[in-house]
Amino acid sequence: MSPRLPAGLIDDLVDAGSREHYADASLYDYEYRRRRADVAFYRELARSRLGSSGRILELGAGSGRVTIPLARAGFEVVAVDTSAAMLGKLRARVAALPSAVAKRITVHEGDLRAFSVDIKKRGAFPLAIAVFNVLEHLYTRVEVDACLRRVADHLAPGGAFAFDVQLPDLAWLIRDPQKRWARTRFTDPTTKRQMFYSTNHDYDPIGQIALIRLYYEPVDGKGPTKIVKLSQRKFFPAELEALVSHAGLRVTERFGDFAGRPLDGTAESQVLVCEKPDPRRGNVVSRRGFRSR
Ligand SMILES: C[S@@+](CC[C@H](N)C(=O)[O-])C[C@H]1O[C@@H](n2cnc3c(N)ncnc32)[C@H](O)[C@@H]1O
Repeated sequence: MSPRLPAGLIDDLVDAGSREHYADASLYDYEYRRRRADVAFYRELARSRLGSSGRILELGAGSGRVTIPLARAGFEVVAVDTSAAMLGKLRARVAALPSAVAKRITVHEGDLRAFSVDIKKRGAFPLAIAVFNVLEHLYTRVEVDACLRRVADHLAPGGAFAFDVQLPDLAWLIRDPQKRWARTRFTDPTTKRQMFYSTNHDYDPIGQIALIRLYYEPVDGKGPTKIVKLSQRKFFPAELEALVSHAGLRVTERFGDFAGRPLDGTAESQVLVCEKPDPRRGNVVSRRGFRSR
């Protein structure tokens, strides 16, 4: 834990930490190649809410890990992200898809806090998603609120917004920032070199931001260790419900994993399904008061 990092330094680290991890999209895809349960969860959610086709707004879509399976399943996806590297990878993957699938994907360069997708022609979205800790790149209450209000503005009444963020792990947050953790050996997918990966972080307990460093070190010791910054805002569950409610959305379901287990203290993720109230269904939630399930 680092209670005394100067505010200016935290700002710089946070900014770099929202970009650096996504600068090498091939390495990103390699690191998360076995992550599948979330893809199945969001595909099933889309089927249960939309049937076999329909439009999905995907925030922080990255290189298309979830976008492409959704398009293959028959859904039209507008994929929003800011990272040129991740969007470049997504565009290349889309170009290699059968044209019937490729034409269901629209790549939209935009920021989580300020995106604007044209909904005049096709109408508002019945479903929006932000998969794999995307909202952890919103570092202040103002940023979170801006994003959630953009989401609400793009959703049709009764439409859903589903996302997942990590459940803060108290033991992890206060790990010794000087030690290297999770050391593993791997082959870099681009250079084919044998590398060691390890990580550590400082935690700012006031802003609730983990300033993570990812170390990539050649196994043969020849050449420098690359240090990649990754900054994650930590959301505690009651706080998250309050933030969602404040933006005029209502949490309708909450899980602790992608198999539908209830959220408890042992969970890794908080998976939330929220709805934009539909006034025709008398389902309006006050901006000042959160109604629990
Ligand atoms: C952990 S990745 C998740 C990517 C993808 N959803 C997946 O599941 O593989 C987070 C993504 O959020 C994007 N991102 C971070 N900050 C952003 C911002 N302010 N606006 C838009 N995208 C952002 C990153 O570029 C990255 O692609």
